[in-house]
Amino acid sequence: MSILDQIEPLKESGLAAIDGAADLRELDAARVQFLGSNGRLTGFLKQLGSLDPSERPQAGKALNIVKKTLEERLEERRGELELKAAMPDRPTDFSMPGRRPRRGSVHPLTQVTEDIVKCFRKLGFAVADGPEIEDDYHCFDALNTPADHPARDTQDTFFLPEGRLLRTHTSSVQIRVMETQPPPVRIIVPGRVYRRDTADATHNPTFHQIEGLYVDRGVTVRDLMGTVEFVFRELLGSEVKLRFRPHYFSYTEPSLEIDFTSPLVRKMGKDWLEIAGCGMVHPKVFENVGYDPEVWSGWAFGFGIERIAMIRYGITDIRLFYENDQRFLQQFG
Ligand code: DAH
Repeated sequence: MSILDQIEPLKESGLAAIDGAADLRELDAARVQFLGSNGRLTGFLKQLGSLDPSERPQAGKALNIVKKTLEERLEERRGELELKAAMPDRPTDFSMPGRRPRRGSVHPLTQVTEDIVKCFRKLGFAVADGPEIEDDYHCFDALNTPADHPARDTQDTFFLPEGRLLRTHTSSVQIRVMETQPPPVRIIVPGRVYRRDTADATHNPTFHQIEGLYVDRGVTVRDLMGTVEFVFRELLGSEVKLRFRPHYFSYTEPSLEIDFTSPLVRKMGKDWLEIAGCGMVHPKVFENVGYDPEVWSGWAFGFGIERIAMIRYGITDIRLFYENDQRFLQQFG
C-alpha cells in the first residue's frame, strides 16, 4: 500500500484518539502516541527520505497538513478538558446557606482595659507607658521601698542580669513619668506585670494592672475617693458600693485599700471583694523625682485588670484568660 493511502486513516485515528480522551492524562497519551518522538505520525515523517522522489513532495505535504490538524485539535481538546477539570462536579446550589468567615473579637482583658481608659479620658487623664524590664530603682527604691523592706518579699519577681528585673507593678511608671515631666500630672498606666507566683485559679505569674497618678496643688483624699467611685460605677454598674480601709504601702501616706461590693459579689457568697490599693503620694517619692512636697500633693492607685474582668464576666479561673481557647474567647465577641 502506498504511503499516501495510509495518511488519511492515520489522521482519522489520531483525531478519534484526541476526541475520545476523557481527561488531560488520556489526552497526553494520545499526543505521545501520534506526535511523540516515537509516535505514529513521526514514524511516517522519518520514512519520507526513503520514498520514491515522485511521491515525496505530495506525501510530505499531506503529512504536514495532518500534523497541523492533529496539533490544532489537541490544543482545542486541552482547553475543553482544562475547563472541565476546573468545574465543580455538582451544579452549584444557590439556595444553600453561605459559609461566613468567623470574625475575631477583642480579648476580654483588652476590652476591660479599653473601658477603663475611656472612663479616665473623660476625666482628662492621659495614658502613659513604661518598660516591663525594669531596674530595682524604679520598681522599688524610688517608691520608698529599699532593699531590706519587707514589702519586697510579697513582690518577688524574675531577675535578669545587670540588676534588671521584670516589674512587679505598674507603679514604676509613676517614677518614670515624674522624672521626665514637671507637675501637674494626670496619667493612667495600663500594663503587664510579673510576680514569682504559682498559677492557680486566682494567681498567675503574669497579669495586668492599671496605675493612676494625679499630682497638683491641693489634691486631697476626697479627690481620690470621688474619682475611684466614678470609675467603678461606670465600669461595673451603678449598684456598686465601695469601702476604703486603712492599709500600708511604702509609697503612699495615708494608704488605703478599696473593697467593692455589688449584687454580683453577694451572689458569689461574699460581702466585699478587695479590689485596689491607693493613697496619697508619699513625700519621699516626690523628693526622689525632684518635686517639692511642700507645694505638690497627689494621689495614686493601682488595681488588677483580671480581677475586674472576672467580676464583670463572672469568670472563676484566671488561667482562662491566657489559654487562648477559642471556646472561651468566642463568648466575648
Ligand atoms: N503597686 C500596688 C500593687 O501592685 C498597688 C498600688 C497600691 C498602687 C497603692 C498604687 C498605690 O499606686 O498608691 O499591689
